[in-house]
Parts: sequence; C-alpha cells; structure tokens
Amino acid sequence: MSIPQSYLKGLQMLTKGNNHEPQTIDDIIFGNSESKLRIQDIVTGAEEIPYCGKSAILLYGVFGTGKTTLANLLPHTIEKSKTGCELAWEQELIACQQGFNGPQVMGFIDSILSKSSLNASGLHYFVIDEVDNLTKLAQQSLKSAFNTTRAIFILTTNNVSQLDKGMLDRCILIEMNAAAPNAYLEIARSIAIETGEQLSDEELLPTIKGANGSLRNLFHNVARLARRKAQEINGVF
Ligand SMILES: Nc1ncnc2c1ncn2[C@@H]1O[C@H](COP(=O)(O)OP(=O)(O)OP(=O)(O)O)[C@@H](O)[C@H]1O
Ligand SMILES: [Mg+2]
Repeated sequence: MSIPQSYLKGLQMLTKGNNHEPQTIDDIIFGNSESKLRIQDIVTGAEEIPYCGKSAILLYGVFGTGKTTLANLLPHTIEKSKTGCELAWEQELIACQQGFNGPQVMGFIDSILSKSSLNASGLHYFVIDEVDNLTKLAQQSLKSAFNTTRAIFILTTNNVSQLDKGMLDRCILIEMNAAAPNAYLEIARSIAIETGEQLSDEELLPTIKGANGSLRNLFHNVARLARRKAQEINGVF
C-alpha cells in the first residue's frame, strides 16, 4: 500500500518547522488591539523611547504567542523608523538562563554601553529573553541600566508577576496573550493547505481554541488534524 502525498506532507511540516515565520511586525498576531497600538506608537515614534525614564519594552504573556519573534523584529523596525537607516550594529541577545546573576548581566551590558553605537540613532539595542530567569538582584540592577538614554531594551517573559516592580515601572508593557480564534483562521487554513488537505473553518476552530494562542501548538495541531483527515480519506493504517 502506498502512503498518500498529503500524509507525507503533514509529517514533513511537523519535522521541518514553520514556513510562516513572521518577517515584519505586520505578520504578528496580537492578542488585543491595545497591544498592537502600543507597538505601532513605538515604531512610528508617536511614543518616544527612551523617554522620561522608560527605555525598555516588556512583552509578556502565555507561551508561544510570538514574544521572542517580535522582540527580534523590533530593533530593526525602530531604527529604520527613527533614522531611515538599517541597523549598523545588530541587537545584543541575552537569553537568560535560570539563576543568571546581576554582575554577569550588568558586566555584559556595561561593556556594550561603554562603546559608541554605530547605529545612526546612536542607540544600542538589547533583547533580554525570558527576563524572569534572572535573580531578583539581577533584575534590580537592570533597573539602573534602564535609566540610560543610550539604549533600548526589549524584554520577554511568561511570568510578569515574578518581575521586580521597579524594573516594570521603567518598561512600556505590551500584553501578548491569545487573540480571538478567528484571528488565526487564515494561517490555520494555509497550514492545512500545505499538507494537501482542505479543512473547513468549523473543523479548524476547536483546534485553534485548543492552542490558546501558541503558534507552536497551532502548527502541530492543525498539521495533525490534516494528517488524520488524510488517513481517514485514504484509509491509511
Ligand atoms: N504571527 C505568526 N505567524 C506565524 N508564526 C508565528 C507567528 N508568531 C509566532 N510564530 C511562530 O511561533 C513560534 C513561537 O514563537 P515565539 O518563540 O516568538 O513565541 P514566544 O511567545 O516567545 O514563546 P515562549 O513564551 O515559549 O518563549 C515560532 O516558531 C514563531 O516563528
Ligand atoms: Mg520566547
């Protein structure tokens, strides 16, 4: 018995990963219109940053909603909007590991800030991923780093309640939770089509709801649904 093409494509999608990786901020699915507006305000310069003691943007919310993806898109987009130029000095990524302490993080940030930025804006950009993994003391020392006007910090977390309040006060807060299920229909339809299966919106919506905003789960679950439909239709196994 030969294995149908659609079934193989479904398997490929699960192993190959995401062809839909957002390329610009317009590709990000925001959980609510306020979050999208806040990002638009920052990107267009309507909300200036760094300004008045706020030099950081915190993206917080449940797993898989695109926080790290958005954090990595922001430096280029902000620099381009501020100056019309590309980044000459890419963002520094700090992927926080459990128990990272203050001297480790601050030593790194200070070493970058002590150099002149090559960017047209004169700004350095830092992405600090999973900031809740830093110790409390490290978070408190970040607070003082955020007083600078020479850098923009973009932070992500799943656990906003665990963050130092002083640090939070220096951040523009952007909630990144699940959007309404309809917001994911277009992407879910295209995932299904890539597997060679046509799934109706009625078939897709329960799976979308089950993913709870996690694009990772959405990819896996829609591909699984399409694979099962292919199995049913073709009588595989
Ligand atoms: N709007 C989108 N369209 C398609 N894929 C997306 C979208 N947003 C995110 N993704 C994909 O979803 C996956 C998860 O995104 P990402 O790692 O940015 O989420 P996260 O919120 O940082 O997750 P975590 O909370 O687990 O750290 C990535 O493979 C990313 O490319
Ligand atoms: Mg992340």
